[in-house]
Amino acid sequence: MSEHFTASAPGRVNLIGEHTDYNGGMVLPAALAVGLEVTLAPRGDSAVAVSSGGYDAPAIRDLADEAVGDWADPCVGALREANTLGLLDGGATLDVVSTIPEGSGLSSSAALIVAVLKAARAAKGEGPSDVELAVAARRVENNYMGVPCGIMDQMAVALATPGTAMALDTRLLDYTLVALPSTHELVVVHSGKTRKLTDGRYAARKVECDTAKRYFGTEDLCLLDWDDVVSADLDDAPKNRALHCVSENIRVHSAIAALGAGDMPALGGAMNESHVSMRDLFEMSLPEIDALVETATELGAVGARLTGGGFGGCIVACVEKSAREYWLKALLDRHSDARFIDAVGGV
Ligand code: GLA
Repeated sequence: MSEHFTASAPGRVNLIGEHTDYNGGMVLPAALAVGLEVTLAPRGDSAVAVSSGGYDAPAIRDLADEAVGDWADPCVGALREANTLGLLDGGATLDVVSTIPEGSGLSSSAALIVAVLKAARAAKGEGPSDVELAVAARRVENNYMGVPCGIMDQMAVALATPGTAMALDTRLLDYTLVALPSTHELVVVHSGKTRKLTDGRYAARKVECDTAKRYFGTEDLCLLDWDDVVSADLDDAPKNRALHCVSENIRVHSAIAALGAGDMPALGGAMNESHVSMRDLFEMSLPEIDALVETATELGAVGARLTGGGFGGCIVACVEKSAREYWLKALLDRHSDARFIDAVGGV
């Protein structure tokens, strides 16, 4: 490559606060050690040439191309956005090296878009703040890729720092970094079931939330009162989605307080309740994932839950550091499709 610029972004795990980020609520993601690095060389034409060790074949596209539903879409979308922001004037050659498993709910797509935008900012030598880049990265997902996601993943991969979780108010984009416990680890285990945010189930949940939003005349389902939702004259699906949002938001606040106080049983309790709510009210789990979560707690995790957009992907479990090795082995022995991905904790 000729003159080139490098940027990286981590994967993220969400400790608690699922589907609250487009409903006016709180989330608590943390950066993972798995991540990706993008090397960008600006080009004089409008071509987008992407190569990556982790994917099948290099992709040659053009900035004018619409999304086609493959792995290069985030790159094309991010470069279009970089042009709109004035960071580049044309296409680019990109090389991507990633250790984030795709389809796992660990934000491989957000990390790729954010890293391309950061590399483009480096090429320009100046530009938008990390928060502004996160907002731009969400636009790529929403408007170019057609994924109606919230802002959590982009903020997490653009700004989270190792050893901390990001307590993010998605309505205001205010956040504080909360230290992770030194006694416990948050362990990420893949269920073996992959999924794509573009497969329609995520969008279906968004539509049900929109129905509840219209009924209550608010964008912020998470801030509604539980009893008002219970007594609303709404169909079961939108009502249950809204009930999940209301209770999940309260659980995120409890989890942040628990982390601050080093109260791991309270954090674990909130995680367990979150899983039940995702399973029964938001209906975003799968039997295999419920079984994995159940074994995780049976084997001694203080809490465990599905993490990410749902319908597959990973669980996150809070496990005492000293017990982790035995716990993990016993869990993987009983779930042959599951595999260890990463673990985060404090020092
Ligand atoms: C995906 C989306 C996020 C968020 C989660 C669910 O990761 O990209 O915006 O909605 O699902 O919490």
